[in-house]
Amino acid sequence: MAVDRYEVKKLTSPTVASVNSYLIWNLDNRQAALIDPGRGAELIHDYVREFELQLTAILLTHLHTAHIVGVDLVRNWERMDVYAHRVEKGAAGASVLLDDECCLNPGGLRITVFWIPGHSPGHLCYLLGGHLFTGDSLLAGSVGSTADGEDHCRQIRQIRDKLFRLGDDIRVWPGHGPSTTIGIEKYFNPWFAV
Ligand SMILES: [Fe+2]
Repeated sequence: MAVDRYEVKKLTSPTVASVNSYLIWNLDNRQAALIDPGRGAELIHDYVREFELQLTAILLTHLHTAHIVGVDLVRNWERMDVYAHRVEKGAAGASVLLDDECCLNPGGLRITVFWIPGHSPGHLCYLLGGHLFTGDSLLAGSVGSTADGEDHCRQIRQIRDKLFRLGDDIRVWPGHGPSTTIGIEKYFNPWFAV
């Protein structure tokens, strides 16, 4: 059964790129999912033990190296599913391939998936209640880098159409840097100035 009692923990790897990983868990059964295991996998392990969690899933926003270097290590702790978009390069190694706007319930968490191509072809964002995990698509005051202008325009359009409509109060947790909100980005992010 999907639940709305959950916790979110941000874990930032101590590297130059400072990738953010996120641990989210169901407060009723202690089952957890991990978003983008970067180099802080050992730190994640400490939290999993400290909070007595059972990791049941890895959710990947995209498969750029800095965001996935911890996948194999975490996967060795126990069996769990790894989720990625089906068109993402390298996604064949994932155990569950996703499409746009599908719903997941790992550990009873109620998660909606949004496909935001641009920074990478199969870039995903994950919504849990009022929390949106945006990887390298929407960042505080910026957006993810893209290979060309066409991908950039596509990314901007997808963020406007799919993420901005979720509501100004939605808390945004990017793959790098500080958290923000949809409202702040909608009105103050220079890439969305009209
Ligand atoms: Fe990236």
